[in-house]
Amino acid sequence: MKRINIAIDGHSSCGKGTLAKQLAAALGYKFIDSGAMYRAVTLFVQRAGLNPEDEIAVTSVLPEIRIYFEVNAETGHSDVWLNGENVEKEIRTLKVAESVSQIAEISEVRRFLVAFQQKMGIDKGVVMDGRDIGTIVFPNAELKIFMTASPEVRARRRFDELSASGIKTTYEEVLGNIRNRDIIDSVRSDSPLTYTNEYRLIDNSSMSRDEQFEMALKWVVSVLNR
Ligand code: DC
Repeated sequence: MKRINIAIDGHSSCGKGTLAKQLAAALGYKFIDSGAMYRAVTLFVQRAGLNPEDEIAVTSVLPEIRIYFEVNAETGHSDVWLNGENVEKEIRTLKVAESVSQIAEISEVRRFLVAFQQKMGIDKGVVMDGRDIGTIVFPNAELKIFMTASPEVRARRRFDELSASGIKTTYEEVLGNIRNRDIIDSVRSDSPLTYTNEYRLIDNSSMSRDEQFEMALKWVVSVLNR
């Protein structure tokens, strides 16, 4: 059976992870959340008391960082681990979200994580979501999907998710963070989020999860039958 790599890029909080997990489960592929890796580096930097904008200091601690994924027996999802500790929950806080785009702007951080991401895709059968997966990490991915939705819709969904997991915040704070990250992610000089005509586009502002999954699955089937 032919195996492919699927790249899913797009804006923050537009459900890339949800779609990626659904596709990986349906196909028996590995799901990799590349954003979780940038978040784990950010957590390390914050715990070390470093300024996330201090590129030299951040670069100097990269050799101390070991990030990997392990399947969580309770949820069945793969959690991100940082130097022997499961940090899946802690990397989702607003504190990490506030600095992660600055960390993701640092070229040495990107090189460090991209090398690791590319290794994970060597044998194919990977669904990876992020910002540069179709452009930099897997430029030859057989299927590239670009996802977006309006900032307000994304902020509402993210706010509901954070509230449900007991994290205290406001809708306005989440919306502000999303708008900020959209700008930083799209204008940074190294590997900005860029839509190209190689992507198939999903705007899910008014689409259900099932509808987008069906649409993506049809694309997968057409690529597999090519
Ligand atoms: O997908 P996310 O919101 O968890 O990503 C967190 C941050 O990491 C986001 O602001 C952009 C950055 N990121 C990136 O630059 N490249 C990726 N492949 C994934 C995430």
